[in-house]
This record gives sequence, structure tokens and C-alpha cells, in this order.
Amino acid sequence: MFTSNPFAELSASISPAIMQAYVAIMMLLVVGGTLFDIIHKRSATYFFANWRTSKSKARQQVGGGKMLSLAVQSAVVDVLASGEFCNMKRRLAHLLGMYGFVLYVVATIAMVFWYPIPATPTPSYWPLLWWLGALMICVGGYWFWFFIRVDVAAEGQSPFRIMRADLFILSLVISATLGLIWAYLQAEGSGWSTVALGLYLIATTVLFGSIPWSKFSHMFFKPAAALEKRVSKANGTAQNLPTLTRDDPEQRKRHSMELLQKAPMRMGLGIKREAPRHY
Ligand code: HEM
Repeated sequence: MFTSNPFAELSASISPAIMQAYVAIMMLLVVGGTLFDIIHKRSATYFFANWRTSKSKARQQVGGGKMLSLAVQSAVVDVLASGEFCNMKRRLAHLLGMYGFVLYVVATIAMVFWYPIPATPTPSYWPLLWWLGALMICVGGYWFWFFIRVDVAAEGQSPFRIMRADLFILSLVISATLGLIWAYLQAEGSGWSTVALGLYLIATTVLFGSIPWSKFSHMFFKPAAALEKRVSKANGTAQNLPTLTRDDPEQRKRHSMELLQKAPMRMGLGIKREAPRHY
């Protein structure tokens, strides 16, 4: 089951051309949905306006070499290592979801386009990566959904309270879950695999079709925002935000001690308070 291509098996009832057309449409929805999101939210306009302001207000100019090192730091720390998350559990859940998604998507594209029928034998690592990717999305996604996200962990809300903001995370984990259930039922030769396939296609179409209204395109925005944050810190504008960063514990401790000394007792800072938990 884990080393056989589920899409090649499916080609007995659905032609590879239809499967390839479906995946191509999903790719177009990602491009179209993200562009619509950028134009609709004017994210690109704000991003470049911020970039220009930061450059014009810079206390020190960031040269080409420095810019390159900031871009590499951003790519490695903020993107590949999800370094923006202070909370280690949240970071791990995000890494599982992110790398799982990449493996799952790449393996799906490889199996549907390069090995669509049993006559073109699929190297066993592709189905293995597909199962592993989908499982990682489920582990990272359900861990985040039921145990880590703010409303549940800090505000004690029911994990079954659903809001529009949850469209991305929910359609992502439900699509991956139904994909695993369909592939398992198909491998078992169960008649229910057709029902599972239908539900899997609906969830996947919602995941890629709802991009203008979900958090999906954050995976393209966040890297740009992370780089902008690093550049503005390097040129001293720091987006007019306080320059205290997680990676400067000495400055943070000094700052909170200053706050404590300054704050009048009535602000309740005298008493032992629960440590803040960053998500
Ligand atoms: C490539 C695939 C990616 C997947 C599958 C993914 C998945 C997720 C999920 C499920 C969430 C939680 C959404 C929610 O709060 O409902 C999230 C949040 C977040 N992701 Fe990603 N992500 C990806 C890429 C990235 C990249 C490339 C970055 C950064 C550079 C990033 C940075 C973040 C940040 C900072 C949040 C927290 C946003 C917030 O709480 O508002 N993600 N991501």
C-alpha cells in the first residue's frame, strides 16, 4: 500500500488526462487566488511602500552584501526553520505542516504527471513521500488545532468552535485526512473508496479554491514580510517598532526590569504574575 501509486490504480476508472487537468486547475487556482489576494488586500502596494519608506528613513544604508546575508538568514531561519515562532510546540507543528504539505504536493504532481498508469511503474519513494507528507500535515495540523492554537490553549475555547479564519487549516488537514482514507480504502479494494474519493476532491477543491478568503497565501507573504522586518532592523527603522527581539535576551531582561521599576504598584506588576506565553 505505501509503495504503490494510488493515482495509477485510480486510472482504471478515471483517465489520467482528467486527473492531470484537475491538478493543473488547482495550480491555476493557487496562482490566481494569490494574485487576487495580493491585489484585493493591496499587500504588494503596502509592502513596496514600506520598503521605500524604510529605505528613505534608514539610519544606516544596507549594502548589497548585507542585503544578501539578510535574505539568506530570512530564507533559512524564518522560512525553512519557521524561526518566527517563539513557542517551540507551535514551531514544530508548523514545520510538520509546512514540510508535509511540500512533500505531499510534489509527490502528487510527480505521480499524476510522470507515472499516471500502471504501465509506467512508479519508483516506490514517491508513494512513500506522499503518505509521509499527508501524515505530517495531519500530525502538525491536528496538534495545532486541538492543543496549540490560542483560542483553545489560552482562551479555553472549544476546539469545535469554527471561524472563517480557520478555513485554511481545516481544509488543509481534512483534505490530507480524506486523501489517506481514500488511498487506504482503494488499496483494500473497498467499495467505500469512491465515496472517500468524492469527499477528498471536495475538500481539496475548497483548500485551493478558497485562497482569496483563507490564510493559504501567507506562505508567499510571510517570507517577504520576514525579510522586510530584518532589513528594517538592519537599517535602524525597524518599522518604527521597538527593536527588542527574541534573540536579544539581555536587552529584553534589562527592558522588563526597567518596566518593573517604573510601573506604579497599582498596575499590579508588584505581585507574582503568570509568565506570558507567546504563540
Ligand atoms: C509551505 C507551506 C506552509 C504551510 C502548509 C503552512 C501552514 C500554516 C498553518 C496551518 C498555519 C496556522 C494558520 C492558522 O492560524 O489558522 C500557519 C501560520 C503561520 N505560518 Fe505557515 N505555512 C506554510 C508556509 C509558511 C511560510 C513559508 C512561512 C514564513 C515565512 C510561514 C509562517 C507562518 C506564520 C508566521 C504563521 C502564524 C500566522 C498567524 O498566527 O497569524 N508559513 N502556517
